[in-house]
Amino acid sequence: MAKTRIAVIVGSLRKESLNRQLADALPGLAPEVEFTQLRIDDLPPYNQDDDGAPAESVRRLKSEILAATGLIFVTPEYNRSMPGVLKNAIDHASRPYGQSAWKGKPAGVLGVSIGAAGTGMAQQHLRNVLAYLDVPTLGQPEVFIQAKEGVFTGPGTLGGSTAAFMQGWLKTYLEFVARHGG
Ligand SMILES: Cc1cc2nc3c(=O)[nH]c(=O)nc-3n(C[C@H](O)[C@H](O)[C@H](O)COP(=O)(O)O)c2cc1C
Repeated sequence: MAKTRIAVIVGSLRKESLNRQLADALPGLAPEVEFTQLRIDDLPPYNQDDDGAPAESVRRLKSEILAATGLIFVTPEYNRSMPGVLKNAIDHASRPYGQSAWKGKPAGVLGVSIGAAGTGMAQQHLRNVLAYLDVPTLGQPEVFIQAKEGVFTGPGTLGGSTAAFMQGWLKTYLEFVARHGG
């Protein structure tokens, strides 16, 4: 049977990104799933004038989203919202009007922060945008991770209790994807 294909969108471009490390940990927690991290660092700033002739990187992003059964957003919080690079990627794949790649793709929202609020406000803003784009999002359990000692035991490796929590989250998320036709 073909593996479920999940597109993972990381909202940080930083080399040592904690959010990318969280995304890197996902395949080890659900080996039966095919996770693909989508590149967003080579997208131009969104300009509606280019809707008729989108850049190659934009066409690639949209085709990768369309090929996925579900989505997982893993985002930092920047100034109490999602980073601009993530919003830029969302805007690109939502256009031209009527040709959004996002529509109907079931999504999970994750985030890790050095702050105690654990990206909660960024996630709330992101959920708002996704609701408009007709992207159903898993409500519970929420994943607000504070990057305290022991959360990561190495690059892309989660500590025991975080790994167990994320494994449970993935199980619930994959059931949610299946309910949405995945
Ligand atoms: C421009 C900027 C704004 C930030 N704003 C917040 C914030 O609102 N809330 C928060 O918890 N952390 C904030 N941080 C700290 C980030 O949580 C921290 O840098 C985190 O490691 C970024 O995610 P990354 O490791 O995946 O790049 C901010 C960092 C930057 C660079």
